[in-house]
Amino acid sequence: MTQDSPQDKPASEAKLWGGRFSEPTDAFVERFTASVDFDRRLYREDIRGSQAHAHMLARVGVLSEDEARRIVDGLDVIRDEIAAGEFDWQVGREDVHMNIEARLIERIGDVGKKLHTGRSRNDQIATDIRLWLRAAIDEIIELIRSYQSGLVDLAEREADTIMPGFTHLQTAQPVTFGHHMLAWYEMLERDAERLRDCRRRVNVLPLGAAALAGTPYPLDREYVAEQLGFDGVTRNSLDAVSDRDFAIEFTAAASTLMMHLSRQAEELVLWTSAQFDFIELPDRYCTGSSIMPQKKNPDVPELVRGKTGRVYGHLTSLLTLMKSQPLAYNKDNQEDKEPLFDTVDTLLGSLRAFADMVPNLAVRRANTLAATTRGFATATDLADYLVERGVAFRDAHEVVGRAVRLAQERGVDLAQLSLGELQQLSAAVGEDVHGVLTAEGSVAARRVTGGTAPEQVRRQVAAARARLAAAGDQSST
Ligand code: ARG
Repeated sequence: MTQDSPQDKPASEAKLWGGRFSEPTDAFVERFTASVDFDRRLYREDIRGSQAHAHMLARVGVLSEDEARRIVDGLDVIRDEIAAGEFDWQVGREDVHMNIEARLIERIGDVGKKLHTGRSRNDQIATDIRLWLRAAIDEIIELIRSYQSGLVDLAEREADTIMPGFTHLQTAQPVTFGHHMLAWYEMLERDAERLRDCRRRVNVLPLGAAALAGTPYPLDREYVAEQLGFDGVTRNSLDAVSDRDFAIEFTAAASTLMMHLSRQAEELVLWTSAQFDFIELPDRYCTGSSIMPQKKNPDVPELVRGKTGRVYGHLTSLLTLMKSQPLAYNKDNQEDKEPLFDTVDTLLGSLRAFADMVPNLAVRRANTLAATTRGFATATDLADYLVERGVAFRDAHEVVGRAVRLAQERGVDLAQLSLGELQQLSAAVGEDVHGVLTAEGSVAARRVTGGTAPEQVRRQVAAARARLAAAGDQSST
């Protein structure tokens, strides 16, 4: 947030909770305990929750219709003030809730003092974070979808592009570049699913729990839930104000997503190196070196790889924050916001970058193909060929091992060994053997569901597109 920081006003203004105190809060303590520096980011959610609460109070007869209307209108004006950067945030007012409430009373007078009826900051903050996180999850899922649809386009474009597939980062078998992109797509598919599942537990209304025990006012919690788009209300007031497991769960899903992005980032970094030279990233995503004129550095993937660490850190922070907390609300929970905010910001930034950068990379197809023929990537195909011709797999493995050694000595690929040389190694070798020794033949043969054959990749692309379209329809209803 780029708003300027709240005024360090002296602790002279009477506190909204000041009744039982005989001396003012120490100025340092006031600043140390305040959260307004960061929780004012929740102002829209705070106002929205307060307006729903006021409407409901009128509905159940605790406020008159006129009182509720003046409160709701006053809050509208305050929202505009904040959005315009004209709001005077005060550390002395501690947090977003009391800054807004105090300002409301300033603006509309004594009727503003009735807003907090049947409510506590404990259920108020729990509501604000849930509203905020719900919107953040929706935004993240939308970005995942956009990145996924870019990956699917790239997979289709490169469905026939041959590259080495690796295990242990050693050349293993030829795969298609499109197939590799669809592997990334699948990781993201599960990430989106985890977030959707987490959203169900986020989307429950705590208001009505009040401080911890509920409230004697005849609140209509279901009405508030409906107004705020919650799926239901929390069932236990102690649990409602105290637990932040939904934030932990979100951050765990976020950590897994970042772990996936870090794997993709690592491959992008490797592939742009002179040693691999498989791809070129768009210039607008790279930087140069101030001393080495030849350099084009993959800064964005490197940064995403690095930012993974801070999200893991936030998960650890939140778990530790919650550990051993007795029921119900404790001030510890105020520490949940910064890790949560930064997790969301990091995810949004990383996804936005990848969603534009990756689909626009250029594949150096000649290089990926050449790399495939350097590593004896079709050795398994030769073994499978011999098995098809009656050789036991173990014996075939042995024969191919000797073929690899021969090719290595001669400095050639398997496909460059002559028919005669291959037949000397095994009588089962026939004149058609070179058909299976090319990378194209190797990938085309792997037509099994989920395999790397171009034809299979195209089928998976079509299925992925159908899923993306269905998910889009779902989220727009
Ligand atoms: N700023 C607090 C938080 O973020 C709001 C709730 C404070 N409640 C209280 N009784 N001090 O958790």
